[in-house]
Amino acid sequence: MYVGGREIVLGVAGGISAYKSCELLRRLQELGLLITVVPTRASLNFVGSATWEALSGREVPVDLWNQIHQVPHISLAKRADAIVIAPATADLIAKVAAGIADDLLTNILLANSSPVIFVPAMHSEMWLNPATQVNIETLRSRGYVVIEPGVGKLTSGDLGIGRYPEIEVILKAVTGSLDLTSDLLGRKVLISAGGTREAIDPVRYIGNYSSGKQGYALAYAAAMRGAQVTLVAANSSLPDIEGVKTIHVRSATEMSWALEENFIDSDILIMAAAVADFRPLTTSSRKISKEDMTVIELLPNTDIVKNLARRKNGQVIIGFAAQTESSMERSLQIAAEKMREKGLDFIYCNDVSGGAIFGSDSTSGAILTNTGERIAISSTQKVTLANNLLDLALDKLG
Ligand code: CTP
Repeated sequence: MYVGGREIVLGVAGGISAYKSCELLRRLQELGLLITVVPTRASLNFVGSATWEALSGREVPVDLWNQIHQVPHISLAKRADAIVIAPATADLIAKVAAGIADDLLTNILLANSSPVIFVPAMHSEMWLNPATQVNIETLRSRGYVVIEPGVGKLTSGDLGIGRYPEIEVILKAVTGSLDLTSDLLGRKVLISAGGTREAIDPVRYIGNYSSGKQGYALAYAAAMRGAQVTLVAANSSLPDIEGVKTIHVRSATEMSWALEENFIDSDILIMAAAVADFRPLTTSSRKISKEDMTVIELLPNTDIVKNLARRKNGQVIIGFAAQTESSMERSLQIAAEKMREKGLDFIYCNDVSGGAIFGSDSTSGAILTNTGERIAISSTQKVTLANNLLDLALDKLG
């Protein structure tokens, strides 16, 4: 199962099995989850911050008193779609049951309203101690999930209950707790973004004004809805989106290769990129002097989306048309013709005359369907348009 884009806080308490949470972290990441590790001070005796930082690829907050301006316990509690405490020690369980908040992790737990999963691991005597059992009942009665520890050999050499549970059991509890109204779960979405650059020589190129914002908004929206997203990005200065596989390309030819490689596996292709229609016939390996730069001979680039649409086997394909006609009606006619000619299911037509739309966070235009419908989009955030397009694609996929 792939549950991309969700934020998880992985709290690590001070038990010897903390090292097993390294593997848990890796497995959670494989599901596409984005993990912030919050270890307790005591747990750092077992696994240090450096390990967590390297494995999670994120900062590892430990103290309440660092970066105080960000109010870390509140911001982390708000951001988390779920909190997993692994291992959960008897001490931590007791503190949470009593509502004690004396470090960053316990403060996050007190401030949080998302699902919490406790993964207890401790010696049998501690687990079976009536104090612990009462605390666990308290936690469960408050809606927390407390996984039963495993039975077997313990660190002390004794046999009994208290082992760190099987990772599969934990993963199931985590995915089961997430609010997966995510309708794109298990779907693969391929998106192109930005504008291609066709090299004339090492310092010059033919390019366009596309910022990549619409393609990135699509990638973000699709990932948040649970899709497995591959973004082919041409020359955008936007930061990579966590959880989205991003392939950076420069030219139309490179973009075409990257898309071809990923198309057959995809359910949805969205071509938001502005692809240069031509490239220089030759690319000089040395800078051309201005005296020699009299004429640039051009060669047409292949129409990427048209080529892919010919090989389609169930994919929904969405194109973009940036038009500058004198009337919207004329722009829509041209866009409808592009949709038909390229074999698309939908096309979004926007008016980019006067530089409007490029680099902006909002967009205006209309979505056309290949069944003749028209959906007007007026001064809408690019991420909202992204969700509208994804709704249509999902409807079509059935
Ligand atoms: N497109 C493509 N490959 C190209 C050119 C365009 O895949 N070589 C895609 C774009 O990503 C977009 C759609 O086709 O989704 C329409 O792009 P646009 O540039 O508006 O269409 P063109 O066919 O290039 O028409 P023109 O430039 O003549 O307006």
